[in-house]
Amino acid sequence: METKKRVPVIWLQFQDCTGCSESFIRSTHPKAESVLLDMVSLEYTELLSVASGHQVEAARKHVIKNYPGEYILCVEGSVPGEDYYCTVGGHSAKDTLLETAKGAMAVITYGSCSSWGGIPAAYPNPTKAVSVRDIVKNKPVILVPGCPPIAEVMTGVIAHFITFGTVPELDHHGRPKAFYRHRVHDKCNRRAYFDAGLFVESFDDEGAKQGYCLYKVGCKGPTTYNSCAEMRWNGGVSYPIQSGNPCIGCSEKNFWDNGPFFER
Ligand code: SF4
Ligand code: SF4
Ligand code: F3S
Repeated sequence: METKKRVPVIWLQFQDCTGCSESFIRSTHPKAESVLLDMVSLEYTELLSVASGHQVEAARKHVIKNYPGEYILCVEGSVPGEDYYCTVGGHSAKDTLLETAKGAMAVITYGSCSSWGGIPAAYPNPTKAVSVRDIVKNKPVILVPGCPPIAEVMTGVIAHFITFGTVPELDHHGRPKAFYRHRVHDKCNRRAYFDAGLFVESFDDEGAKQGYCLYKVGCKGPTTYNSCAEMRWNGGVSYPIQSGNPCIGCSEKNFWDNGPFFER
């Protein structure tokens, strides 16, 4: 892989909290630094670029002009319906997105904000936030939802692209099947308790101490497609349910308005 030409990447951030970028840089398999130093040439990113201001804008324009059809566009954050809610470098999020997506070989939406609208789209959606796919209609858009997505899912998708030169196999929503084919519930470490009818009834009861199923305190694992229970977080250490927290369905569309997150 090291002998391959590094693929230019532009990583745009719009209405986001930077949590997706923060997750990405904690990937361990593959390591984020090996993705950044061996696989891709990250030409524009608000979090990691050394350049800023006019210099980094020039880097973005340079890629668009000189690598048409050869670069990957990653997007973090939703796009507001009204331009004035999010401008970067004097340009609206929508204009920057359309300008940058035009020459991209594919677009990856990292996180539930860019994939579905996310937290910025929560009722009453004051900025009229929408997903990237609501704006970009003429490109393959690969959805990598999660709030944030698992680091190794993020690097795994980009590594697939670079290794095979193709879009990974996607489900009907546009999510890579390799990472979104199972519900959290299918592989959950508490599943045996669900099947046995042993539930946590409140967060401080004996069932909670025993590690029983969290369904009755609001767990959305049965309706959430994500790899948390298989891959786990922080290099495979744990994930919300293992740590005693119900899944809030953070990779699913409208999770932000389908609350409450917890029930007592
Ligand atoms: Fe932040 Fe979640 Fe949106 Fe990522 S998906 S930018 S972590 S709010
Ligand atoms: Fe399913 Fe949630 Fe219970 Fe796990 S804790 S078995 S995901 S309902
Ligand atoms: Fe999100 Fe549920 Fe995984 S809350 S991090 S999809 S366990």
